[in-house]
Amino acid sequence: MTNIVVVGAQWGDEGKGRIVDLLAEKVDIVARYQGGNNAGHTIVVDGETVVLHHIPSGILREKRLSVIGNGVVIDPKVLLGEIDKLRSSGYRVDEENLKISDRSHIIMPYHKEIDIGREERMGANKIGTTGRGIGPVYEDKAARRGIKLSDLIDPETFSARLQTVLEERNLYLTRVLEREPLHFETVYEEYIDYGEQLRGFVSDTSKLLNDFIADGKSILFEGAQGALLDVDFGTYPYVTSSSAGSGGACTGTGVSPTKIDRILGVAKAYSTRVGEGPFPSEIHGDLGTKLRDQGGEFGSTTGRPRRCGWFDAVALRYSARINGISELAITKLDVLSGLDTIKICVGYNYEGKVITEFPSSAQVLQNCKPVYQEIDGWKENLSNVKTILDLPPSARALLNMIEETTGVPIWIVSLGPSREKVLYTRDFSL
Ligand code: GDP
Ligand code: IMO
Ligand code: MG
Repeated sequence: MTNIVVVGAQWGDEGKGRIVDLLAEKVDIVARYQGGNNAGHTIVVDGETVVLHHIPSGILREKRLSVIGNGVVIDPKVLLGEIDKLRSSGYRVDEENLKISDRSHIIMPYHKEIDIGREERMGANKIGTTGRGIGPVYEDKAARRGIKLSDLIDPETFSARLQTVLEERNLYLTRVLEREPLHFETVYEEYIDYGEQLRGFVSDTSKLLNDFIADGKSILFEGAQGALLDVDFGTYPYVTSSSAGSGGACTGTGVSPTKIDRILGVAKAYSTRVGEGPFPSEIHGDLGTKLRDQGGEFGSTTGRPRRCGWFDAVALRYSARINGISELAITKLDVLSGLDTIKICVGYNYEGKVITEFPSSAQVLQNCKPVYQEIDGWKENLSNVKTILDLPPSARALLNMIEETTGVPIWIVSLGPSREKVLYTRDFSL
């Protein structure tokens, strides 16, 4: 029995969905622990692409249980749409193989209105959020005015909570953001119906997961976003509003840290970020555009172009420390084929001094200039390479450099979006 956390080690979109789908073969349960439909986790099976926003990336593997933990925030309309879509693609999703925490919080229409309204108001200072209501829903959770899934499926509680909360949120919407108020009846009617449709999936998932652990079953805890978007450890304020790091696996599922054995960090062989915020190793100009096109770097959720940059070992070392990453999965190595030179950021030049620790201030990071080590690129297409030793020498040199500069061993190397395009540096066993 091994319980493993899969955490994004950069700014999200590292290929977590692809790696979780792979590892789901080896575990009994996959549990998502935070985030909402700001996440877009892509899995490619037999040429078909599936993008998941709420549902754990183990759902495509038969006989695996999928759990949406208490740390996740749920847009019920989007979740129900996701369930329908999976079913119409022939995947099984029912009340036996999907369980949703009764403690998870619901993204309400006013959360989206507030998210969008604030971003508009902030103009050039915006965060560049996904506009899915994520900040406002986590804010309501902390402010103790949230609506939980257990409230949504109890008409009396839901009605009472919504009355109070909506009155207050409407004041904010109209007076501060100068937007239209929402009407109680309209919201109530729509959402009570979602509650009815979700009722059968609702469960005390913390008890469920702990009972499974006691029975010797293995759990994979799936993170959304990435450690550098974590509300505590990310490039604040350019972050998401949840604990995207490995610690979130415990608070977001109700499972103790003593039950977790391994922490797999997923990182691209380069870097990307969507939205605003500092990004020292960002590549501007034609090369950045080339990498975006070669890597298909457009958001799985919003379709926005992702900013592209070189692998940042300073950021990754920091990420490894705060998450306790025991091993790495490096994705998208194939995307770097054809570049003359490949760089790794190994330090930052800040006001004339080289620093090797990731700064806590976004202002400082904004003014950091990358210090690079360079290696020659390779020309070969990697998509049919079958072992690590068959990789071109430069690709192997890059992997060695990543291990040396981050201090973390690589376990998995991904060479394409589909299941079989993967290499292991040692056994594929948990
Ligand atoms: P996630 O949010 O971390 O699950 O990542 P996304 O799904 O948002 O973005 C990763 C993208 O890269 C998806 O389109 C994947 O299909 C794709 N992908 C994952 N691994 C690889 C890989 O090794 N090579 C290539 N070329 N694409 C990959
Ligand atoms: P996955 O799970 C990449 C980014 C947004 C924005 C910031 C805050 O697919 O890796 P939010 O809507 O959460 O308030 O936006 O976080 N962001 C992501 N970037 N991948 C994600 O998820 C993201 N989820 C949020 O672009 O910069
Ligand atoms: Mg994504």
